[in-house]
Amino acid sequence: MSTDFGLPGRVAIVTGAARGLGAATAELFARFGAHVVACDIDGEALGESVSGLEGERHVAIACDLSRPGNCESLVAETLERHNRLDILVNVAGIIERLQLDEIDEAAWTRTMDANVKSQFFLCRAAAEPMKMAGWGRIVNFTSQAAHTGGYYGTSVYAVSKGGVVSLTKNFARLLGPHNITVNAIAPALVDTRMVSGSMDEEAIESVTSAMPIGCMTEADEIAMAVAYLASESAATITGHTLDINGGLLMR
Ligand SMILES: NC(=O)c1ccc[n+]([C@@H]2O[C@H](COP(=O)([O-])OP(=O)(O)OC[C@H]3O[C@@H](n4cnc5c(N)ncnc54)[C@H](O)[C@@H]3O)[C@@H](O)[C@H]2O)c1
Repeated sequence: MSTDFGLPGRVAIVTGAARGLGAATAELFARFGAHVVACDIDGEALGESVSGLEGERHVAIACDLSRPGNCESLVAETLERHNRLDILVNVAGIIERLQLDEIDEAAWTRTMDANVKSQFFLCRAAAEPMKMAGWGRIVNFTSQAAHTGGYYGTSVYAVSKGGVVSLTKNFARLLGPHNITVNAIAPALVDTRMVSGSMDEEAIESVTSAMPIGCMTEADEIAMAVAYLASESAATITGHTLDINGGLLMR
């Protein structure tokens, strides 16, 4: 495998690309020669993130992926611009730390829509052009919370991320015959706004001290794992959830 993971010329949708792991993935994909269609609900931050990408033909599309119609439009717009879609990376997500008695229906719906409904409708829409091309790669973002059940007020978040593991297996089964692989990445702790905005130093220290590796994961390491799963070399890895967690949870 070459060091660019075969990404030159590939057209890749990367969601959540305004910051954090989505921005790191978009940056790596662009550096390796992919044409990135970057999407985020935060249009201003997305514009800044995309303007810094290496290379050309990158597109920034601001929309709320909680709405299935927007997921379908994102794929349609990608096809209009590039006439193909090779890779979908579903990074966008939210976390709201709430105790059980604080969770109302609106909170449940917000998290489930942003984290799992969005990925379902994007996978379904992206599958069509990939099937026609006879090649495709989908990488979804779940969390180790899917396996542990979640800590620190993450009940709904954990349920949503469990849903991502299931939808990843389901789409892997349906799309494998079309030469499309579907995998998920389950980080534990990466220093992004999702972590710094929802955990204090003490909580972070209690998690890292329980890891054999003993520190948070760098965003670049996650992006490299996405690039590998999106490459030709990962042709028979499908339905898999890759844990990247410093050894915190060994399944
Ligand atoms: N950072 C971690 O330690 C960690 C751990 C486990 C899982 N994850 C998962 O990794 C993914 C990325 O996390 P991150 O740390 O980069 O988070 P982040 O908060 O830094 O970035 C998430 C991005 O998603 C965007 N987004 C949220 N809802 C959206 C919507 N409805 N439509 C479009 N865009 C939307 C946000 O605007 C933001 O730019 C998430 O799915 C998260 O659950 C992260």
